[in-house]
Amino acid sequence: YPPERIRNFSIIAHVDHGKSTLADRLLELTGTIKKGHGQPQYLDKLQVERERGITVKAQTATMFFRHKFQQHEATEKENAPNFLLNLIDTPGHVDFSYEVSRSLAACQGVLLVVDAAQGVQAQTVANFYLAFESNLAIIPVINKIDQPTADPDRVKAQLKSLFDLDPNHALLTSAKTGQGLEHVLPSVIDRIPAPPGKCDSPLRMLLLDSYYDEYKGVICHVAVVDGALCKGDKIASSATGHVYEVSDIGIMHPELTPTGVLLTGQVGYIVSGMRSTAEARVGDTLHQAKSTVLPLPGFKPAKHMVFSGLYPADGSDFDALNHAIERLICNDASVSVTKETSTALGMGFRCGFLGLLHMDVFHQRLEQEYGAKVLSTIPTVPYIFEYSDGSKVKVQNPAALASNPGKSVTACWEPSVIATIILPCEYVGPVITLCSERRGDQLEYSFIESQRVLMKYQLPLREIVVDFYNELKSITSGYASFDYEDAEYQKSDLVKLDILLNGQAVDAMATIVHNLKAQRVGRELVDKLKKFIDRQMFEISIQAAIGSRIIARETISAMRKNVLSKCYGGDVTRKRKLLEKQKEGKKRMKRVGSVDIPQEAFHELLKVS
Ligand code: GTP
Repeated sequence: YPPERIRNFSIIAHVDHGKSTLADRLLELTGTIKKGHGQPQYLDKLQVERERGITVKAQTATMFFRHKFQQHEATEKENAPNFLLNLIDTPGHVDFSYEVSRSLAACQGVLLVVDAAQGVQAQTVANFYLAFESNLAIIPVINKIDQPTADPDRVKAQLKSLFDLDPNHALLTSAKTGQGLEHVLPSVIDRIPAPPGKCDSPLRMLLLDSYYDEYKGVICHVAVVDGALCKGDKIASSATGHVYEVSDIGIMHPELTPTGVLLTGQVGYIVSGMRSTAEARVGDTLHQAKSTVLPLPGFKPAKHMVFSGLYPADGSDFDALNHAIERLICNDASVSVTKETSTALGMGFRCGFLGLLHMDVFHQRLEQEYGAKVLSTIPTVPYIFEYSDGSKVKVQNPAALASNPGKSVTACWEPSVIATIILPCEYVGPVITLCSERRGDQLEYSFIESQRVLMKYQLPLREIVVDFYNELKSITSGYASFDYEDAEYQKSDLVKLDILLNGQAVDAMATIVHNLKAQRVGRELVDKLKKFIDRQMFEISIQAAIGSRIIARETISAMRKNVLSKCYGGDVTRKRKLLEKQKEGKKRMKRVGSVDIPQEAFHELLKVS
């Protein structure tokens, strides 16, 4: 397949607008997967993705398609499919805009899918601009036209007014009933340019993604931009200079299908003896070891915006957690991991994530796929503190910020984001209240049609990390959509809030908050802990403090908990059962100083903002 017979494209959409369903239909239409193959969505592979209905890891698949308008071109191979189409899937959540930018770098065009009933939403806007800035051909696809509330004309008007896209170029489809799907791939071929690479130039290949396979080792997804690559070739990484021998090479059709070679414009996989995905740097340019090339422009590097401590839920399980994390990061190189020790929780890890959902998904995968039991600390964002001696430190763990460092803090900064919110105008009031409670500054307020408003806010990242999205959904009955992009650091007035149990600060519960919110957050944390810590044999005082100033306090009075009190008479088996249950319960406690804290307490603390 010469480049002019190749198209590389991606589908971008707001969550739930039907991207994965459309991808499945296209794979069926080209016979790449069988109809009704048993799995609801081929490209959504992870268990978490199925449960949450979101795409986390981008997948790629190659299809062959005979374009009916060009049938006359086929000569001796009359029935051979004459186009090779690479569909590069993208994740559908704000946390993963980094993955979206990766996928787009290998494409020349996108299908911009918009739900015919819901219309343009916040992520549609964000995704449109990602594609637009990358100079990609954009084919609008108005999907779900089978729905009774579908209003394609309204969506067409939005596409015109917001993005200046010609409404006559929009495709109308239903990925559910199959209506209109026959126009999708012909449009991809006619309207998306062929990959621009040079066949006779030295190899330049983009590393798109990587994952770890038990049997084959690290498998890299790659896009060949210039030149060609064969099995047995020696390649080098522009980032590290390391040299590897290609032992397997092929396309995803949709399973790994060896081809022995990848040519200019093709997207496929290689296996090359890399030991871990950490060696496979996404955005790296790979080239023939014998030649030197100018690296391709890089991607946006993974930015870790949310940090949390992960500890074994059961003290003795450190090795098991270590092993589980090591295996999981083999498949998710976008998480940063460093070992840390907490006086309260023992040995654990400080992990950096792209966002809160990414963090949740990582936890869930650790527990579901690797059987690890995890306890996590209050998520934090990377703050910058400046001290009186002129030194500046980036703080990813509130505990690391000494309460009394011997020098005073002269200034601090926190990361912020620019949030785009699209909502029906009747919800504007509560959303403005929410954004100002979260310390947001309004940047834009405009009507995108008579009843819908687009607002832009600059918000501190810390304020959207905890429960912002859920609250926004609940006050707008699910009608608001939300997306955000990173913005610069802003000067702020931050304090470290300590939690003390019986006078002893618990490092794993320390958090950094805005001075104006400290009182309320301190009160909420103390109340939550009081609810979740059982009475013990001695009195427990719970305090929230800023430095030496106590801002909230509760006391749990002493009591001996007798689990057998409910057992009348002498039923030995029942007694034993209860004692066993108590032992089981104890296991899930963390002993901090002399106080046993149930895991739920840690989980509940995560929800205080
Ligand atoms: P993410 O993976 O989170 O980005 O979501 P998505 O955009 O891939 O959406 P998905 O394909 O999972 O579809 C979301 C829901 O819409 C599913 O319940 C689909 O069955 C449904 N759906 C998709 N296409 C259509 C359509 O054309 N008509 C109707 N009625 N429902 C559809």
